[in-house]
Amino acid sequence: MDVVLFGPPGAGKGTQAKRLVEQLRIPQISTGDMMRAERASGSELGQRFESFMSLGKLVPDSLVLELVEQRLKQEDAKGGAIFDGYPRTIPQAESLDTMLERLARKIDVVVSIEVSLTEQIDRITGRRTCVACGQVYHVRYSPPPPGGRCGNCGGELGQRKDDLEEVIRKRHEEYLANTQPLLGYYGARKLVATVDGIGSLDEVTARIQTAIAH
Ligand code: AP5
Repeated sequence: MDVVLFGPPGAGKGTQAKRLVEQLRIPQISTGDMMRAERASGSELGQRFESFMSLGKLVPDSLVLELVEQRLKQEDAKGGAIFDGYPRTIPQAESLDTMLERLARKIDVVVSIEVSLTEQIDRITGRRTCVACGQVYHVRYSPPPPGGRCGNCGGELGQRKDDLEEVIRKRHEEYLANTQPLLGYYGARKLVATVDGIGSLDEVTARIQTAIAH
């Protein structure tokens, strides 16, 4: 099964993708996480990603394509994937269709998680992420255990560099201009299921599970 978790910055895509991995037994493919890992490696490619990400701009499609193509070749992605934060533009969606077609696969469902801009800013400014395993917390809604370290691996928690309010607003503009039009692209194929992103983590997970099952 191939699922796209769709939504604006802070909608809860990453949080929900991690919850679905165990249930669906397919990996999460997050282009944002992959780019941050590349950046952390100090590579030249990572520095190119950084020059766009720090400003809240989308990374050019050509750089993203290569990243996803390599990831889809890995063994664990042979039976499907949960795409998180990808595709983000019409050309990315078209190239994903082509890549999946070559593997005799196709997108089964696009789950669009809806939240307001106020909620996005509140969530993103309060987000804390484990620098070691990527587990996501929120200072109020999903707090880490006492002691302030990751409950999964004991790693240190940090804030993403692009989680400043002015950068979040730029990311939101990019979403409206380049990513939201994908709802029309997938909607024409009746692949979009919309879910309300407001509620407890369990409530949102249940809504997504229902959307995927239909
Ligand atoms: P990326 O890493 O993909 O970020 P994003 O799409 O902006 O989304 P976020 O990761 O901010 O939010 P999320 O929806 O995953 O929310 P989360 O679950 O963390 O991209 C970053 C940058 O990389 C882009 O700006 C771009 O430069 C580049 N990039 C990446 N992919 C690209 C691509 N394909 N093409 C071009 N450029 C690309 O939740 C947020 C917070 O809310 C957390 O603290 C969480 O605990 C909390 N939370 C979650 N659910 C709930 C809930 N139900 N109630 C209360 N709090 C909640």
